[in-house]
Amino acid sequence: MTEEDRVIDAEVHEEDYKQTSLRPKFLEEFVGQESIKRNLNIYLDAAKKRGENVEHILLYGPPGLGKTSLANIISAEMNVNIKTTSGPAIDRPGDLATILTNLEEGDVLFIDEIHRLNRAVEEVLYPAMEDFELDIVIGKGPSARSIRIDVPNFTLIGATTRIGLLTAPLRDRFGIIERLEFYTPEELAFIIRRSANLLDTDMSEACSLEVSRRSRGTPRIANRLLKRIRDWAQVKNEGLINSDIIQKALTGLGVDDKGLDSLDYKYLKAIAEKFGGGPVGVDTIAASLSEESDSLQDVVEPYLLQLGFLDRTSRGRLITKLAYNHLKMPIPAANQRQKSLF
Ligand SMILES: Nc1ncnc2c1ncn2[C@@H]1O[C@H](COP(=O)(O)OP(=O)(O)O)[C@@H](O)[C@H]1O
Ligand SMILES: [Mg+2]
Repeated sequence: MTEEDRVIDAEVHEEDYKQTSLRPKFLEEFVGQESIKRNLNIYLDAAKKRGENVEHILLYGPPGLGKTSLANIISAEMNVNIKTTSGPAIDRPGDLATILTNLEEGDVLFIDEIHRLNRAVEEVLYPAMEDFELDIVIGKGPSARSIRIDVPNFTLIGATTRIGLLTAPLRDRFGIIERLEFYTPEELAFIIRRSANLLDTDMSEACSLEVSRRSRGTPRIANRLLKRIRDWAQVKNEGLINSDIIQKALTGLGVDDKGLDSLDYKYLKAIAEKFGGGPVGVDTIAASLSEESDSLQDVVEPYLLQLGFLDRTSRGRLITKLAYNHLKMPIPAANQRQKSLF
């Protein structure tokens, strides 16, 4: 199974864009993440009362938890335009200058994958964030000179799956930093029922809870599973979703009772069988699986850590007793390095 057709990976797929209607538009519709919502409500209210922009906001957490949705919600709640771009899309400082000078007063600039901005672009972003000014170099060689121009007061919203890769000076320029957490099964069940409603599909509370438990704590995956289950119901059961249909659909997708799929199994088995349970570096695991280290770190590891199947140490990854149990593999005689986990 390739990364592209992995139904439970939390990366954006094309069909996610087609179904934009599932995306919550206002803070009120945004399920869960209670502490973020509470904070944002206050910050947005305060900014509105002062007639100012809200401070720059950094949102981080695994893919599919609602960073892009929140950025759009913030601009909607503030009643301003949002301009969306991403770290890798801004090649040169000039590109950023063009984007910034085209903003209107108060606009939100949303930079997704902000950890992938290159250094030269970052340098231009600093004064823009701090003083709403740009230093632009005109000309080349000895005749080059730098001019300073004003840009509109804007709010930068940055999103990243890997806050550790952000440089300190960039991170420090955000006034508000919020981390998105995995959702509880109950929250996901609520999201699934909301989505089912929007898709004109009937789904009982029990069924939505069953699907939520296999959605890796991630709304994007919950919505995607819902759509596949709906397909199965359409073809095999006159549109009716029940436990049997859910089971068939998820088995067909290779998703197990904890929401793990073949890539998770490959990853866990590699550590167990090739590296004695660890510790082993993620790059080594990635190479042995011919997968990208980045995508393992973004998509596979966060949920395995959350389940307690994996431990991340300074010397590498270790799998735990829980993981061995789930794999139905015998637990090796605990060696010194792994003792703490058993
Ligand atoms: N809190 C939420 N409530 C309801 N639906 C959500 C929530 N968070 C995410 N979603 C759904 O999951 C999808 C993915 O969210 P998105 O904001 O694109 O995640 P991220 O940018 O963190 O990868 C959205 O299109 C939306 O349908
Ligand atoms: Mg996103």
